[in-house]
Amino acid sequence: MKVVMLGTGYVGLVTGTCFADSGNDVTCVDINQQKIDMLNRGEVPIYEPGLAEMVRRNAASGRLQFTTDLRGPVAEADCVFVAVGTPQGDDGSADLSYVFGAAEAIAPHLREDAIVVVKSTVPVGTNRAVFGRLKELTGRDVHVASNPEFLKEGCAIDDFTKPDRVVVGVMDKKVGEVLAQLYAPFLRTEQPFLVMGLESAEMTKYVANCMLATKISFINEMANLCDRVGADINEVRRGIGHDQRIGFSFLFPGVGYGGSCFPKDVRAMISVADTRGMDAEILKAVDEVNNRQKHVLFAKLDEHFGGDLKGKKIAVWGLSFKPRTDDIREAPSLVLIEQLLAGGADIHVHDPVAVENVKAQLGDKLTYHEHHYDALEGVDALAIVTEWNEYRNPDFEYVKHKMGTPVIFDGRNLYDPEKMGAAGFTYSGIGLKS
Ligand code: UGA
Repeated sequence: MKVVMLGTGYVGLVTGTCFADSGNDVTCVDINQQKIDMLNRGEVPIYEPGLAEMVRRNAASGRLQFTTDLRGPVAEADCVFVAVGTPQGDDGSADLSYVFGAAEAIAPHLREDAIVVVKSTVPVGTNRAVFGRLKELTGRDVHVASNPEFLKEGCAIDDFTKPDRVVVGVMDKKVGEVLAQLYAPFLRTEQPFLVMGLESAEMTKYVANCMLATKISFINEMANLCDRVGADINEVRRGIGHDQRIGFSFLFPGVGYGGSCFPKDVRAMISVADTRGMDAEILKAVDEVNNRQKHVLFAKLDEHFGGDLKGKKIAVWGLSFKPRTDDIREAPSLVLIEQLLAGGADIHVHDPVAVENVKAQLGDKLTYHEHHYDALEGVDALAIVTEWNEYRNPDFEYVKHKMGTPVIFDGRNLYDPEKMGAAGFTYSGIGLKS
């Protein structure tokens, strides 16, 4: 099939590359010339394990191309995917100007039977509005489908090629059949391909992210309570997780969820409810609990130092919002660092891949270290914000030797409090009994 992918962000680039890898002829289009030039040189602008190699292999085979000019490729395409950004607007709603901009740009070039597939996360009603706009522009009923994406940054290729399910919202069943063909190579092990109405598909994406965000805020609230009653959230987590109705996934407490999806999507859903005259009370609480959770590590540090962080040397391990990505959007590390800076601390940071992104934002307000052990030289405390694998099993004797005082505030519960105590550390996690 001939496929055009509009937008070369995480979703567009991964989806386009995976479709090329399964034998389709894919052209990725972006308005950012610099990005397209990079991709044409075989350089991938984001850090995503396995992606660069896959991009280069498919580009070399001629199945994957990159351009800023959509006219020719759109004129030939069976499917035009819209995977452009939907940033958060000032009022929390999703800004849809890129989605409609894309629809307007492709309208004059679309083949009669082409399918326009919206992959961007868009609030309910957007796909039907895109259909309406395309009708105004072309004078005909253009096939529009909603195809929300469920991949996670850091596992994007695996998530895309082995999806739990594929969801497609359509107005015409035949459109679902064409898209089923496109997804067939990824659905060999009987994962469901779910065809539904446009609005249900749009809701499915938000409801999934809101449910996961709710689980995280819920467990964070329970962990904070464990801290106060002398219980251990890890024991409680095991206690509840074996109940299959509850399960284990997305119930790891921490420093709050970040990234480009959960915070934005929860707020967009609150905003959708508002516009329909409904107060989304649970989601408001989820958002509020998450904002508070991003302050928990600082509160613990502040209490430890009796409210005086001035001149205290603090190491921070992990800057990206989660491991295996260089993405720092809505990252809890930034909230902690901002508070530490305001308190006058001397901050030494390490991250395996996200340092350049933080440098672009905070410059020389921080000291950056190439090796995580080097960030510990003489520090008064270490704060762990992101659970990169290399932090999971350090040489604790060496860590203690490097640190000025062996004090660790762990926002991801990586270590066993008993062992840490025995090894001479003052150690505090999130909801862990120490
Ligand atoms: C999320 C969803 O998991 C994807 O299914 C969805 O496609 C994507 O958003 C999207 O809408 O595009 P992502 O934001 O890449 O994916 O990352 P996750 O792995 O879901 O993590 C999100 C945040 O939750 C991270 O900050 C992570 O640290 C936090 N988290 C996750 C916890 O604090 N505890 C957990 O148990 C799990």
